[in-house]
Amino acid sequence: MSRIVISEFMDERAVERLRAARHDVLYDPKLVDDAPRLKAEGSNADVLIVRNRTQVRGELLAALRQCRVVGRLGVGLDNIDVPACEGRGMKVIPATGANALSVAEYVIAGAMLLLRGAYQSTAAVAAGQWPRNALSNGREIAGKTLGLIGFGSIGQLTAKLAQGLGMQVIAFDAMMDADHPAFAAHAVRAAGLDEVIASADVISLHVPLVDSTRNLFDVRRIAAMKKGAVLINTARGGIVDEAALAAALKSGALGGAAIDVFGSEPLPASDHFKGCPNLLLTPHIAGVSAESNERVSFLIADKVLEALR
Ligand SMILES: NC(=O)c1ccc[n+]([C@@H]2O[C@H](COP(=O)([O-])OP(=O)(O)OC[C@H]3O[C@@H](n4cnc5c(N)ncnc54)[C@H](O)[C@@H]3O)[C@@H](O)[C@H]2O)c1
Repeated sequence: MSRIVISEFMDERAVERLRAARHDVLYDPKLVDDAPRLKAEGSNADVLIVRNRTQVRGELLAALRQCRVVGRLGVGLDNIDVPACEGRGMKVIPATGANALSVAEYVIAGAMLLLRGAYQSTAAVAAGQWPRNALSNGREIAGKTLGLIGFGSIGQLTAKLAQGLGMQVIAFDAMMDADHPAFAAHAVRAAGLDEVIASADVISLHVPLVDSTRNLFDVRRIAAMKKGAVLINTARGGIVDEAALAAALKSGALGGAAIDVFGSEPLPASDHFKGCPNLLLTPHIAGVSAESNERVSFLIADKVLEALR
């Protein structure tokens, strides 16, 4: 019997699957907010299961004295010091692919809403105004160019959905040469970063947060985007300069943005996003849906059980 500590939200039925395999399971989604208790509970855990808020590094990592497996209910590993975990013989298991469809659908929905720009009229219409002229210049998604930065599992799925709606798709991936089979398999043209930035009507980011992607969309690259283009960031905060983005929306240089991830989460109340036109802000939920929660939780439960066998 192994001790499994789960410090953030996990589908209850997947938790039951772990218990049914006769493991000693502590499931407390509030544990992430109580650092001393997390360290104490972690000290005799064989497995720690986290989402994206538990920072598996520093003091917590030092406290995980007998831990062999870290399960991540998601894919980004920037909250886990993977080399340090592996150096201590711990296996880090992400839920690769399990929430990709939720993110891809979020991107497509965001692109359609922002290109069309007609879905924020509820209050005006209900109040008896009729802003028909003001909302008559929205754009269709078909025929537009989607530029993907990062062509891994989410980028590829997003390309497929976009093509189904008649978009052209180009993609830049720093780790893939233009002759990488994934591009041909998805009928996506590989392009350089500058070309994607300058020519796409919608840019969607699907890269990890690493040194080479930190502040990738800085003031200069945001300024290089096509006039009226839409920027969607579901990847990680820290990749887009939030203040520069807000300024570009206010000046009309950009036509819209959907931002799901922020440099600091929860996003502290601040003024720079106030009054930005055609902006969608969501609290890091692009990959979180009823279906993906289930897929992610069962995938991690099964992989943890396999690793313990
Ligand atoms: N908002 C959410 O809820 C949510 C949910 C799931 C994933 N994510 C994030 O989405 C991102 C992509 O996830 P994924 O599953 O597609 O990952 P993935 O590993 O399958 O793909 C990432 C791709 O980025 C490429 N890449 C790495 N560095 C690059 C660079 N400097 N420039 C261009 N490309 C680069 C890699 O070669 C890889 O192909 C991750 O940051 C992940 O944390 C967010």
